[in-house]
Amino acid sequence: MMLVILGTFLGIIFGPSLFILVPYIRNYFAGAICKSKAKLNGKVVLITGANTGIGKETARDLAKRGARVILACRDAAKGEVAACEIRAETGNQQVIMKKLDLADTKSIRQFAENFLAEEKELHILINNAGVMLHPYAKTVDGFEMHLGVNYLGHFLLTFLLLERLKQSAPARIVNVSSLAHLVGRIRFHDLQGEKFYQRGLAYCQSKVANVHFTRELARRLQGTGVTVNALHPGTVQSELTRYSSVVSLLWKMFSFFLKTPQEGAQTSIYCAVAEELESVTGQYFRCGVCTVLMCCGYIKRAPNPPLTAYISQQINTLYMNLGSPIHQNL
Ligand SMILES: NC(=O)c1ccc[n+]([C@@H]2O[C@H](COP(=O)([O-])OP(=O)(O)OC[C@H]3O[C@@H](n4cnc5c(N)ncnc54)[C@H](OP(=O)(O)O)[C@@H]3O)[C@@H](O)[C@H]2O)c1
Repeated sequence: MMLVILGTFLGIIFGPSLFILVPYIRNYFAGAICKSKAKLNGKVVLITGANTGIGKETARDLAKRGARVILACRDAAKGEVAACEIRAETGNQQVIMKKLDLADTKSIRQFAENFLAEEKELHILINNAGVMLHPYAKTVDGFEMHLGVNYLGHFLLTFLLLERLKQSAPARIVNVSSLAHLVGRIRFHDLQGEKFYQRGLAYCQSKVANVHFTRELARRLQGTGVTVNALHPGTVQSELTRYSSVVSLLWKMFSFFLKTPQEGAQTSIYCAVAEELESVTGQYFRCGVCTVLMCCGYIKRAPNPPLTAYISQQINTLYMNLGSPIHQNL
């Protein structure tokens, strides 16, 4: 009885104020928005994994700014639906879907070859596609799936398109990493997870590789007019949790506190268009967490030269083993 009276009392006192506070709480979790009004007419943008989630919303925004946007998608049917939707909504007919499977280096090479034949310029490359908590599996070329898709696939794609980016300078490369990189370790002794595999750690490993790759590539690209930055988009309600029913359920239960894909795309958009980032390179960005009107800020992660050098050398070796000459491109 006492509890009912107390509950009613608290409800009367705090109920209305909670109701008023809800939009503010929601805005807090939505994070910062990109305030740049930059137009992208005449610019060519390539976004991987753009048929859904953060990639699709990034594509929608950049299409609104007038860019020619190429959606590089594994599932051509889903990709075409997304491209049609963006064309219809934005009126921009320069939104095109191309097939790309980052888990297959043949597909990546084929994609790059077609792209270079058809597109004379590339101003913004957004390496967005990703998998998380994937059960143990290998890509067509024998790489552990997270490492292969999230990191190595984008690594190969970037190198194959690098000369076009340099020719189109000023140009930007945006690598969608994750906060998960902070707990990530590169397990050099068991890179492919053959001795020990834990899905979460495999995801973190691929994301820390993104960050170090960003830093190393930025160093090597100094003076070329091509910048490269990495980012964490926030915790976003998307299809990323598809391989874990438990995490999918948790994501649904706490959806109020998660970003929508549109909110999650803001940091990618910011890195791709913000005028003040014209010459900023080798940085890791995350969304401002305090107020929805705050511009995204960036934080520096301490460089780790020995680790970076080791990654660089390991990756070159990996690709040399695949018979690829890409290590010579830098
Ligand atoms: N959501 C978050 O909370 C969060 C947090 C931190 C970082 N991120 C990062 O943000 C990026 C986008 O994630 P999201 O949340 O938008 O997830 P999502 O909705 O699952 O989108 C992932 C995209 O990647 C594509 N993809 C997966 N494997 C591919 C492959 N082998 N080849 C080509 N494309 C492939 C997917 O295509 P299909 O639809 O055909 O599978 C999809 O378009 C990822 O890199 C993710 O790690 C997300």
